[in-house]
Amino acid sequence: MKQQQTSPLQRFLSKPRLFSKPKLGLVAALLGFSLTAWAEPVEIKFSHVVAENTPKGQMALKFKELVETRLPGEYKVSVFPNSQLFGDNNELAALLLNDVQLVAPSLSKFERYTKKLQIFDLPFLFDDMAAVDAFQQSEAGQSLLNSMNRKGIVGLGYLHNGMKQFSANKALSLPADAKGQKFRIMPSDVIAAQFDAVGAVPVKKPFSEVFTLLQTRAIDGQENTWSNTYSKKFYEVQSHITESNHGVLDYMLVTSETFWKSLPKDKRDIIKAALDEAVVYGNKLSLEKDIEDRQLILDSKRVTLVSLTPEQRQAWVDAMRPVWSQFEEKIGKDLIDAALSANKR
Ligand code: SIN
Repeated sequence: MKQQQTSPLQRFLSKPRLFSKPKLGLVAALLGFSLTAWAEPVEIKFSHVVAENTPKGQMALKFKELVETRLPGEYKVSVFPNSQLFGDNNELAALLLNDVQLVAPSLSKFERYTKKLQIFDLPFLFDDMAAVDAFQQSEAGQSLLNSMNRKGIVGLGYLHNGMKQFSANKALSLPADAKGQKFRIMPSDVIAAQFDAVGAVPVKKPFSEVFTLLQTRAIDGQENTWSNTYSKKFYEVQSHITESNHGVLDYMLVTSETFWKSLPKDKRDIIKAALDEAVVYGNKLSLEKDIEDRQLILDSKRVTLVSLTPEQRQAWVDAMRPVWSQFEEKIGKDLIDAALSANKR
């Protein structure tokens, strides 16, 4: 955190020869100044890996606006998009070192800190985003916000992006079409198992490298939401997108216990309320962008959309569903059942 700045007037007033400390406050009050007005605001760095024109990018900017309006001069939020400050490989480590105070990695990027969040990567678990939301807001979903407390990471809330689609340089209509194809994946063993299940080759790589990997044909495909595929132009370097909706890509907003506890309670409450409000804003945008960015991609005519028949989709479900049993023990059957019950709401 930054040092307090002192003005020449403050330095003059603080001369011990002239004024004792209580008198300094009195003099400042008489002059109509607040001593805190001279202090530099506390900086909250919010780092993320996506573009600004995404649900997470916009949510971060809304959070900045709300905090700086409600705590003017006391707190400022600096937002670093596009992996400018930290990327997938180091943002959580940086959080624990207090080099950044807020990050919102995809739920697939916490595996080193908890296995519980692997639940969100199970293929074909959630029917739609409403089911994802219902599970996240349930008691079981909310308890996952505390799943990394012992590691010093505090979950402050979830943020939506959307359902994932496959993209490649060929039509992926049936699982056999993915055989031997190299797919970039997020650092998740569940996602790796999902691609192994169809004979594909999963390659764990940071988000910041995906476009170049696709462009140079070092990999054949990837899976992502419509908004990430649009904002990072993946559709310009892929020939087909399969509308599979086979999994979810959402985020957890996290801070470090050290930073969170360092905040005075009244300020922390204001900051948390601003975050909750920014999440509502970001979630609304995620629904809109999912539809808009899909349409922008299709309008570009740079990719061919592969729509699955019910039989084709079932073939993907049958091929990938066995992944669940591989991870059931670590995730917990109760948690999986709780997630499934969100589909029946
Ligand atoms: C993100 O949405 O934060 C990045 C997702 C990815 O790594 O594919």
